[in-house]
Amino acid sequence: MKAVSIQTFGDPGGMAVIDAPAPAPKPGQLLIEVRTIGVGGVDAVIRRGTLGGYGFREGIIPGSEVAGRVIAAGDPADAAWVGRDVWAFTGVGGAYAEQAVARLEDVTELPEGLAPVDAVALGSAGPVAHFALAQARFGRGESLLVRGAAGSLGIMAIQLATLGDAGAIAVTTSSPERGKRLRELGATVLLDRSGDGDALSREFDVVLDIIGGHAVPSFIDRLADNGRMVSIGVVGGYPPADFGMALMRSFQRSRSFGTFSLNTVPTDERNRIRAEQFAAAARGELRAVVHDVLPLTAAADAHRRIESGEVFGRIVLTP
Ligand SMILES: NC(=O)c1ccc[n+]([C@@H]2O[C@H](COP(=O)([O-])OP(=O)(O)OC[C@H]3O[C@@H](n4cnc5c(N)ncnc54)[C@H](OP(=O)(O)O)[C@@H]3O)[C@@H](O)[C@H]2O)c1
Repeated sequence: MKAVSIQTFGDPGGMAVIDAPAPAPKPGQLLIEVRTIGVGGVDAVIRRGTLGGYGFREGIIPGSEVAGRVIAAGDPADAAWVGRDVWAFTGVGGAYAEQAVARLEDVTELPEGLAPVDAVALGSAGPVAHFALAQARFGRGESLLVRGAAGSLGIMAIQLATLGDAGAIAVTTSSPERGKRLRELGATVLLDRSGDGDALSREFDVVLDIIGGHAVPSFIDRLADNGRMVSIGVVGGYPPADFGMALMRSFQRSRSFGTFSLNTVPTDERNRIRAEQFAAAARGELRAVVHDVLPLTAAADAHRRIESGEVFGRIVLTP
């Protein structure tokens, strides 16, 4: 099969189209003929090699999210899955390929009316946004700030908050054009990346932080009394080592900070929420935002476009 592998960590040119043996499903796994591949911001982080210390090796096939048709099951008892159209999480790699394997518990069937191209914009981001808002105890009428809202996680968080009868929904973004698109999805307050904008003095009950980096303390300072910041991404790097001082200095305001990873949510819970969100998308109640669809062989271009900052939503590859 054709696949794309990271031959050399660093810039996108270090990725190459290769011929690789098709993976064989083990018991408990399904083999999927891939139709669409979601390109995540984390794929670019892995490609840069900055996660080398976590055990990634040059030569890996990157990507973790596909949609397609099940063509084989590792265990004959799972044969009923063959022929079904599914979304699947493939683990820390293996998605940039014509065929991919996934564990049965990481597979969700696509409902009638949901295109594979939309499934890979929603399948991972939707549950992350749902459970992150739950972790933050985001409640009715409360105000929310989504830091780094123009990616697939932020786009889902805005839409879920809008459906949930929220107060103000603020976003950070880098341009008025991107802000306009975020407003169309439900944002009501636009801020620039540093948090300046049409609501300079406003404080928020919940800050969902996808960016991290040096500005984390200044966003902790934007929490209301009893406000909660939940970090779900580090697109802009780790916060400064003393970022917790922003909480301690405002002790009397009962603010808090936490992290959230989907890894801590049981797979059956993730699948239940994903299936509900897929059904909502098929009914037109949630929107998948796909920036562009490129052939698998253009994976390096997809990564260049992510690095350029032009992407709004998800880039999708098709074998
Ligand atoms: N917690 C979990 O379970 C989980 C699961 C999956 C992924 N993740 C994490 O989520 C992150 C990727 O999420 P995503 O794909 O939605 O994000 P993304 O598309 O990579 O970035 C979101 C937006 O952030 C803004 N941005 C980019 N660089 C920035 C910077 N240096 N400072 C401020 N803003 C910046 C950009 O929008 P503007 O240009 O409009 O500002 C960009 O569109 C990764 O860190 C990944 O590891 C977490």
